[in-house]
Amino acid sequence: MKILFVASEIAPWVKTGGLGDVAAALPAALRAEGVDVRVLVPAYPALKQAFPDACEIARPHWLGGQLPNCGIREAHTDDGLPLWLVDFPPFYDRAGNPYSGPQGLDWPDNHLRFGLLSRVAAWIGSDVSTLDWHPDIVHCNDWQTGLAPVYLRYLPGAVAKSVVTVHNLAFQGRFARSTLAELGLPAHAWHVNGVESYGYLSFLKGALKHCDWITTVSPSYAREIQTDVEGMGLAGLLRQRTGELTGILNGIDLDAWNPATDPFIARNYDAAHLAAKAADKAALQLEMGLEDRTDLPLLGIVGRLTHQKGLDLVTEIAESLLAFPAQIVVLGSGEKTFEVAYRELAQRLPDQCAVRIGFDEGLAHRIEAGADMFLMPSRFEPCGLNQMYSLRYGTPPIVRATGGLADTVTDAIDEKIGNGFVFAAANPAALLAAIQRAVDAWHEPKRWRRLQKNGMACNLGWTGPARQYAELYEQIVDA
Ligand code: ADP
Ligand code: GLC
Repeated sequence: MKILFVASEIAPWVKTGGLGDVAAALPAALRAEGVDVRVLVPAYPALKQAFPDACEIARPHWLGGQLPNCGIREAHTDDGLPLWLVDFPPFYDRAGNPYSGPQGLDWPDNHLRFGLLSRVAAWIGSDVSTLDWHPDIVHCNDWQTGLAPVYLRYLPGAVAKSVVTVHNLAFQGRFARSTLAELGLPAHAWHVNGVESYGYLSFLKGALKHCDWITTVSPSYAREIQTDVEGMGLAGLLRQRTGELTGILNGIDLDAWNPATDPFIARNYDAAHLAAKAADKAALQLEMGLEDRTDLPLLGIVGRLTHQKGLDLVTEIAESLLAFPAQIVVLGSGEKTFEVAYRELAQRLPDQCAVRIGFDEGLAHRIEAGADMFLMPSRFEPCGLNQMYSLRYGTPPIVRATGGLADTVTDAIDEKIGNGFVFAAANPAALLAAIQRAVDAWHEPKRWRRLQKNGMACNLGWTGPARQYAELYEQIVDA
């Protein structure tokens, strides 16, 4: 089985969120299952620096519309995973993150940047490819790769089938109608059964319509996105394809996120040596300028500061929360209003609340290890990785019952298997009540240990999910 895995980011080189983690870990796990995988990503500066010797192996040309000729370079990760880099410096050699410039504004030519990524994927999956490796399936991820199934459908010579994984339905890649020709798509693709979506050209809609199979990153999210409330305008289409839509829960990288070996944290520990975790708490308090208090529970937050993550619910109840009393550390970046609200909170209550705005991989690990409990009150959460990192680090998560959070966290009310705290309503009162329950449990050390150990015993690796993907690939190719 040959799979071309296409993504717009890949950890550790280029990562803005969970997609980057998945694009690194899932292909590696698939290889371990005997699947022949290549990962196709844009040749961002970080990747070119990491792999200066990557050789050009092909030059796709005549791609249509305003899509430029480009190169494909080949590199290998330390573990031997082949990376194919789409090389066109005017598109990818830019400061900022993959999607936006240093000022936080989306690049105005994102349709061409990710249109090219999608188009090259389709080129590799068609009979015009000059490469000597031909994928059975092009596996796309999110809107940035969404036109690959569309090109495979509309252009001649398609050989590969396609799978699209939805990591987040909120981002659909919608552009003006005029981009249709720029992207080299035929006029008849502008259709409700094509790429048109509410008057825009939508990469994701096109993907969902034209791929052979749709997956998403948890069973609960697979159900939720078929409802009008959570379907973000695409529920009808997803319901039509319900027989070709599977939720496969993400795993986590058990080596990168292992408290027993994690090089980022002050003191390593495992389930049998949980007392050592106290040193990580003390180190985190020191690093973040919080009072060194062992008698207060320390809550951690890491993530994008956006409406999705429900982190405005936390600032709304912050005063009551800290009056428990408790401490809180926050690491994140995102919408300015959220950043301001958290900064103000830290200024008002500096002994109890510490906030770091920015992206810091090491600090994310130290928060997972040093916090007593982890907060994830998401309004929606396709899968969520941080709650799984928390489980692995003996830092029980407090989560809203949605998407992958609901599929991975079991409420402490079930003493046998409970590993965290779950609440239903997306409002401040429900969140506060869940935190109150967690703080109460934290004050009962025996009960708390049990919760921690239940979480640490969960099977969270990629082996199971990779097997599910491998079986799905077989089924699609056989169909
Ligand atoms: P999403 O992809 O929606 O942002 P996930 O929970 O799936 O949410 O994944 C987020 C990933 O990004 C995790 O690996 C998390 O540790 C990381 N992350 C998010 N924000 C930051 C940050 N400010 N600094 C470091 N890592 C971060
Ligand atoms: C998205 C989702 C997140 C998921 C991640 C990886 O960014 O918001 O819930 O864990 O993708 O699949």
